[in-house]
Amino acid sequence: MKPLNIGMIGYGFMGRAHSNGYRKVNNFFDLAYRPVLKAACARDAAKVKAFADKWGYESVESDWRKLIDRKDIDAIDICTPNNTHAEIATAAAAAGKMILCEKPLSMNGPEGKKMVEAVQKAKVPNMVWYNYRRVPAVTFAKQLIDEGKLGKIFHYRAKFLQDWTINPELPQGGTGLWRLDVAAAGSGVTGDLLAHCIDTAIWLNGDVKSVSAMTETFVKERPHTLTGKKEKVGIDDACAFLARFDNGSLATFESTRYARGHKALYTFEINGEHASIFWDLHDLHRLQYFDHRDDGPTRGWRSIHVTDGEHPYMGHWWVPGLQIGYEHSFVHQVADFLKGVETGQPAMPDFRDALRTQYVCDAVLSSAQGGKWVNVEKA
Ligand SMILES: NC(=O)c1ccc[n+]([C@@H]2O[C@H](COP(=O)([O-])OP(=O)(O)OC[C@H]3O[C@@H](n4cnc5c(N)ncnc54)[C@H](O)[C@@H]3O)[C@@H](O)[C@H]2O)c1
Repeated sequence: MKPLNIGMIGYGFMGRAHSNGYRKVNNFFDLAYRPVLKAACARDAAKVKAFADKWGYESVESDWRKLIDRKDIDAIDICTPNNTHAEIATAAAAAGKMILCEKPLSMNGPEGKKMVEAVQKAKVPNMVWYNYRRVPAVTFAKQLIDEGKLGKIFHYRAKFLQDWTINPELPQGGTGLWRLDVAAAGSGVTGDLLAHCIDTAIWLNGDVKSVSAMTETFVKERPHTLTGKKEKVGIDDACAFLARFDNGSLATFESTRYARGHKALYTFEINGEHASIFWDLHDLHRLQYFDHRDDGPTRGWRSIHVTDGEHPYMGHWWVPGLQIGYEHSFVHQVADFLKGVETGQPAMPDFRDALRTQYVCDAVLSSAQGGKWVNVEKA
């Protein structure tokens, strides 16, 4: 196996999820490349050293520019807040590094377009971590749709519900709370949660043509961790939108951090002329499937336990009936990225593919502001 030296930036939630992916991938997938945890980077030298020791990184950096300059790094993994993605990715591309960037690709469409141009000019492999595509039940849904099992698609319905920002005393900004600070996050639930729903939807159902959205910021001011003062909140706390897809189907999307009792309830349902499917992140190894062509008396919703060797990715894991979890979607994404490097058939979504989601997010925010239907720019 050829080594592929990883330089990881950020040691938070995603820093851990990706590191786990790099460490596990060669145990379960036969690949030409082996990721090597070469260096971890973050601003706090002591904390990044502790992270590096825990996960087995060989070295640390506290300035991402130094990491990018290093000759012994092949790929830069961007696991930092959204406002840093463009600058880091553009510099990494100019240095000829492969780039694995967390979602959303960028703060907005124009910034994302520049990132696409940078990786295309540098001809470096690139990918965005929309990991839900690689939950086996979601990949299986894609197979069923591509095989035509659902027939013509009429409806797409997605939700991503949380409840962790209801307390008005919760500050915005800084470590752990950058998601509430529009300067770091770019937007609220639209870029953070709906971006996932939109990426999955585009992958399963094609491009979004137009949207009509509403957003709300329920808590208008919050103390800012970095300034110590109460400051205006610039993110959308909740967003709901209607959409028309290029294939003629109609959709509803909803996301909020104010749905008491829900922690990460990502669900989607697709209704086609022959069949419907439903998926729920809280029960992520199951795909609910209804096929109108089944025999009448026994026709009904089937709950498919997506754990058989013939199901996507599952042949790499245990025996039928034994399920896997959230973290495995990142292992799968690493495996697909490395296979893409090996074969020259890049793993999706690459930056260009992820720009489609960015343009939908832009259209959603613009529609919410202007109170009108907005057409989505084509990537
Ligand atoms: N794919 C997914 O499901 C998923 C889930 C969560 C987060 N994300 C995305 O991952 C990214 C990171 O989110 P997170 O939840 O891991 O955040 P986090 O707050 O847990 O971690 C962020 C890390 O970035 C570091 N950092 C911040 N600014 C930096 C800088 N200038 N230089 C070096 N390091 C810096 C922090 O020290 C921290 O280690 C975001 O873009 C987020 O949208 C994706």
